[in-house]
Amino acid sequence: MDVLVGGVRLYYEVHGEGDPVLLIHGFPLSGRMWDGVVAALRDRCRLVVPDLRGHGRSAVTEQADMARYAEDLIAVLDAAGERGPVVVAGMSMGGYVALELCRRHSRRVRALALIDTRAAPDTPEVAQGRRETADRVLVEGSDIVATAMVDRLFAPEASPELRSEWLRRMQATTPMGVAAALRAMAERPDSRPTLTSLDLPVLVVVGEEDAITPPEEARRMAVSAQRGRFVAVSGGGHMAPVEQPREVADALRDFLDRLA
Ligand code: MLT
Repeated sequence: MDVLVGGVRLYYEVHGEGDPVLLIHGFPLSGRMWDGVVAALRDRCRLVVPDLRGHGRSAVTEQADMARYAEDLIAVLDAAGERGPVVVAGMSMGGYVALELCRRHSRRVRALALIDTRAAPDTPEVAQGRRETADRVLVEGSDIVATAMVDRLFAPEASPELRSEWLRRMQATTPMGVAAALRAMAERPDSRPTLTSLDLPVLVVVGEEDAITPPEEARRMAVSAQRGRFVAVSGGGHMAPVEQPREVADALRDFLDRLA
């Protein structure tokens, strides 16, 4: 399905019946990363699965920031008929967007699941590196980011097929979408104060072999939240929802059951 936001066409899917859950993908991925989680949860949840602007089947714009992504998702939820609070689950960059949603639209968030992500902002060096990579991507193409990322995304035991499938998908993200997201991540605010001030159930999930957002940092996030829970997924790297979808779905199901 599509929704137009200020003339920009955003793609989203809705699956299943039950508690509404918004699934926000990471960078430079798409809603397809949730396929396994959706299959395991569709008997329990109504899953709204968007492609962020510049990713997957959504249109691309030259600029984006966390606020723009978050407002886009409110338009997606409205279009999907979800005008009340939903459980918001974000993976990596999707977690940065989920925390922005909490800041801007707290009444739309029933509970928060942060998956393979962090609340801290970039260091100045990392942010500068992202801006430089954004400039290069526009000249050299998305492949430079896709090939640099693919090995760090997965646990060592992930199959070569899974790696090449996701390499192809990342390569297919347009350079403009990749550059806009890199700049958006570089400029994102510190979400640690947001996380500690939220009076909401917060689930932090991380692959035990996540090399990008390490388990120790994830555990500290869960401890810093007022109502935090922590789940480490064995056999999962940064792409735990893709590598171990059933375990991630089980963690979300248990989290939802506790909300009831
Ligand atoms: C992601 O998976 O969304 C990115 O690795 C996040 C990041 O680079 O900070």
